[in-house]
Amino acid sequence: MLRRVLFVDDEPRVLNAFRNELEEYTAVIRPSFCESATSALERLGSSPYDAIVSDMKMPGMPGNELLHRVQSLFPRTARIALSGHPEYERWLRTNPVAHHYLLKPAQMDKVVELVMRTTRVQQIVGDAEVVRTVGGTASLPPAPQVLVRLREEFARPDPRLRVVTDIIGEDPALGAKLLHMVNAAAFGLTQRVTTVERATALLGLDAVHQLTVSVAAFDAIAKHLSVQGFNMDKIARHSAQVAELARRLVDDPSVAETTFLAGLLHEIGQIVIAVSFPSEFVEIQRRAAASNRARYALEMEVLGTTHAAIGALLLDSWDLPGEVVEAVAHHHSPRDVVGSRLNPSAAVCLATALVAEGSPRASTHIDRPLLRRYGITYERLKEWRAATKGVLA
Ligand SMILES: [Fe+2]
Repeated sequence: MLRRVLFVDDEPRVLNAFRNELEEYTAVIRPSFCESATSALERLGSSPYDAIVSDMKMPGMPGNELLHRVQSLFPRTARIALSGHPEYERWLRTNPVAHHYLLKPAQMDKVVELVMRTTRVQQIVGDAEVVRTVGGTASLPPAPQVLVRLREEFARPDPRLRVVTDIIGEDPALGAKLLHMVNAAAFGLTQRVTTVERATALLGLDAVHQLTVSVAAFDAIAKHLSVQGFNMDKIARHSAQVAELARRLVDDPSVAETTFLAGLLHEIGQIVIAVSFPSEFVEIQRRAAASNRARYALEMEVLGTTHAAIGALLLDSWDLPGEVVEAVAHHHSPRDVVGSRLNPSAAVCLATALVAEGSPRASTHIDRPLLRRYGITYERLKEWRAATKGVLA
């Protein structure tokens, strides 16, 4: 589907460069161009746009003010900030008016990728009011600092163990929760792990990185929790089980770590619902206790969207990999999983269903068409069920 995107920059030569580069993307992007924030707002008011890509430093109304207004007036429009001034990145971390921030000169393929991804997530979320509330400055925290620092370290070709353990070591509570998670039964360690160094020796640096990201992400949301009855431990344990199982299901080992992270984070939207929509959360809990219906169906009824979509919206705003965002978005909707290989989305979706099979209130079932699409035989399904028992033990 073609995305209508508004590019805003006060320098005509920058807009001209965009115009030239965008010729390659006419199949996916239909661009418009504005030289000021005021004309951009007029344009948005006269017809809907899927995304806005705006410069930050402009005479008159600056980009941050423009994006703030777009956020409240046109919440369905994805917002991407572009700037040649790195200080805006710091400002945006605490004032998340943009879904993404890119330092100029940005590669157009990166801009297009972010536009496509964020607009896809917004479509999945569906309800405009939910997008507005979840995407609002008041309800969602920015990405935790530890996540940003680990991302920087893992962007290096050779992430350093010492730096990773130092980053984790700066927050003893985070380190303790990480070790608690590492010792979860799902990972099948035969000895109790008491240091981050030992955890990396047994599970690998990548896995410890993914686990730290998930612990920090859960923490960042959970500290805003005010409702009763939210069982964080249960969600963390379930997420570790789905993550470990999903990692074993993928065909391609190069996506195993991404799959693992998606599994660890797939239920994060449940915490966001409890934080951002406390009264709806209580109502969903009440209906869940009174029936056997799937939680996502009850969320749809009460909220008009699901924890899967809301989790994806949050993780997209934190700039997590696109495969993670999509896998979280689709973990209860196998019909939306795309791709001919057993990718992270398919694996997390199947792992969710396999883990649910063992529950007495199973409300998520293994999707037969999905199994057929990947040529999964009955024998392989039997192996998966045995692996599920191992992970749940
Ligand atoms: Fe879920």
